[in-house]
Amino acid sequence: MTTSNQPNLEHLPGLKGGFTSDNIAGASTQVLEALVAASVGAAQPYGADEYTQSMEARLRDIFECDLNVFLVPTGSAANGLSLATLTPPWGAVLCHKESHINNDECGAPEFYTSGAKLVEVAGDNAKISAAALRIAAQNKVGDVHSVQPSCVSITQATESGSLYSLAEVQEIGVICRDHGLKYHMDGARFANALVALGCTPAQMTWQAGVDILSFGATKNGVLAAEAIIVFDTSLSKELAFRRKRGGHLTSKMRLLSAQMDAYLKDDLWLNNAKHANAMAARLAQGLSDIQGVELMDQTQANIIFCRMPEVVIQGLQEQGFRFYHDRWGKGIVRLVTAFATAQEEVDAFIEASKELSLAIR
Ligand SMILES: Cc1ncc(COP(=O)(O)O)c(C=O)c1O
Repeated sequence: MTTSNQPNLEHLPGLKGGFTSDNIAGASTQVLEALVAASVGAAQPYGADEYTQSMEARLRDIFECDLNVFLVPTGSAANGLSLATLTPPWGAVLCHKESHINNDECGAPEFYTSGAKLVEVAGDNAKISAAALRIAAQNKVGDVHSVQPSCVSITQATESGSLYSLAEVQEIGVICRDHGLKYHMDGARFANALVALGCTPAQMTWQAGVDILSFGATKNGVLAAEAIIVFDTSLSKELAFRRKRGGHLTSKMRLLSAQMDAYLKDDLWLNNAKHANAMAARLAQGLSDIQGVELMDQTQANIIFCRMPEVVIQGLQEQGFRFYHDRWGKGIVRLVTAFATAQEEVDAFIEASKELSLAIR
């Protein structure tokens, strides 16, 4: 096995640059090697094994607190199980319109919560605004005819690639405390947000009042494992039963735990995220110099949204570059970098965009 995360593109004819999402990347070599090693011999099932213990100890260390960890194979399962633990069936989950739980989980939050309602809270850049949240938190409280505000869910980094500043995460925590709401964070891109903000994992979560974190890893180097991290450990017993009942208590848990353990070891998770963010910054910088290409927002993590002329989009696709476009509006392109994105891919994309834009003039 090689020790590099960078792909050798010579073996991938036609795959010139994959910017579709960060889950088109494979897994980090260290994670795969750990998985192979953990597969040797026998271990106790359902998490009663040494890999699970080691992974939990690492997370306690990283987050500087006591906590409980529940691994599941997908982010949707992590979110659904977390929200079910934080919200009664008659509750409202206050979230942004653009959130993954609201748009991309096929009703899993509603399914797992036995019917709680996702209520959209306004805000720019895919972030809930504190002012709008204060109003939503008081909406029809005590009215038996209406769902009751129960939980706030924010995504960090957001679906548009923006970040809640530490002050914003904390302000939402204060609103939750003042209104008796539980606080959930969808951290599918937690590492990308963390390294960009430069704060500690503790500051960005439990110290700001977060009760449960969906700690993503699959988009950042893991094969298939996400951690539900419970800071309010009084909720852990319930979550344990919910995970089993929801069919997500993996019997060969050690193989998930070994992935997460390797991901956390030697700062792999942080280094992978730093690389992904650096590639996005390089891509944004290169695109910002091209006439006709308009960046829609400041690039803060590993997602870029920009406007491109149709012929440029078409030309890039014909040349084999892969990315989503026109889903969020005509001419809007989304580019996502990952831990395995090679600098050459980024530079080739910028160069091709430049040439196609020049050809229009
Ligand atoms: C913000 C966010 N949350 C959660 C997820 C988890 O999704 P999945 O269930 O595909 O692992 C994703 C994946 O795209 C995401 O972007």
